[in-house]
Amino acid sequence: MSDVEVDLRGVADFTANPYPYYEKMRAAGPVHCARTDEFDRVWLVVGYEEGRAVLADQRFGKDWRTLPGQAGMEGDPIRANMLELDAPDHTRLRKLVAREFTPRRIEAMRPRVQEITDGLLDAMAPAGQADLVDALAFPLPITVICELIGVPDLDRDAFRALSTGVVSPINAAEEVRAFRAMSAYLAGLIEIKRRSPCDDLMSALIAARYEDEDALSSDELVGMAFLLLVAGHETTVNLISNGMRALLENPDQLAALQADFGLIDGAVEEMLRYDGPVEAATFRFAREPVMIGSTAIAAGDTVLVILAGADRDPARYPEPDRFDIRRDTRGHLAFGHGVHFCLGAPLARMEGRIAVRALLERCPRLELDPDAGEADWLPGMLIRGTRKLPVRW
Ligand code: HEM
Repeated sequence: MSDVEVDLRGVADFTANPYPYYEKMRAAGPVHCARTDEFDRVWLVVGYEEGRAVLADQRFGKDWRTLPGQAGMEGDPIRANMLELDAPDHTRLRKLVAREFTPRRIEAMRPRVQEITDGLLDAMAPAGQADLVDALAFPLPITVICELIGVPDLDRDAFRALSTGVVSPINAAEEVRAFRAMSAYLAGLIEIKRRSPCDDLMSALIAARYEDEDALSSDELVGMAFLLLVAGHETTVNLISNGMRALLENPDQLAALQADFGLIDGAVEEMLRYDGPVEAATFRFAREPVMIGSTAIAAGDTVLVILAGADRDPARYPEPDRFDIRRDTRGHLAFGHGVHFCLGAPLARMEGRIAVRALLERCPRLELDPDAGEADWLPGMLIRGTRKLPVRW
């Protein structure tokens, strides 16, 4: 098709700073047909109202098996997860785990999250400098999610490498390899757990596989382990690191927060809006012809809602490029919207608030390391973050 208007392939500084590109697109209209490193042709929704509407619109589906011509498509088992399914499968899978992620259940984990954070800061603080990703932003959420689902002995380094390969692949071949390796790894993990069950979420899901009337298929079990483990840490890592970068680059905002930690909840919401960990929602396709604003989307077309574009829409957030921890951030789309709204939002918010506050209390003179050199941004449009964040204090 020849209606591609934006070509984002190989644009040198797009990964490091996509915001000016989204701004330019938005100024020309909320919806654009683009070619990217991942897609030959995809609709990008960069306006807030339009993005929010697409996320809530059931005419956009996620389950590729329901696309005309795709029936019987053999997918990777880890694709059988709720984020890549529609009702009724999505509803069934989400219901199986939703009770573990209610704000009340998550609040009960607060002392343990604080304890893990304090332990990491104890180890980090004497050095006077650190890579904040390695020292805090990665180990905190991975430890919490592993304990929550019941795989405390996970080989974190091996899992981290696989996980980054899946969410931020360097190229298509690498992505396929990472998906296969991840599936095999998770199947092994589930098998070990099946042989020695405990009183934890993973064991309960494995038992449900055999006992419950809403039983999971074995693919769905792998898919659930994948989604909870990967979504449970890849994102929160970058909430902490992108958020701290924004704060350290805006000394007036840093000072305001240090003077009044009562502002922490608003500060974390602004971190999510201003430079959130999920740049684009996962892709959706039109199940039927749909109009987004004045743009006609044909049945079967792929649509990406650019959360990073929507949350910087000046029609919704005045002076959107200003990082302001006191602004009204209500309605931001960093956790998505609609039936796929992030299941882990209460957990991510709690981890972010505890980590940022504890870090600033422990290292009040924290600053970005001026000798750090160029930041190494993760490739792809799904996850926004850097591999490292060198700091000193
Ligand atoms: C700051 C951290 C986080 C951010 C920014 C984030 C963002 C998102 C977004 C944008 C979606 C929807 C994607 C879409 O509609 O295409 C989503 C879904 C999801 N998130 Fe998160 N997430 C975070 C942390 C977590 C954590 C800690 C968990 C823990 C398990 C989690 C579990 C999930 C799950 C299971 C879904 C799929 C929900 C569904 O399909 O119904 N996320 N997340």
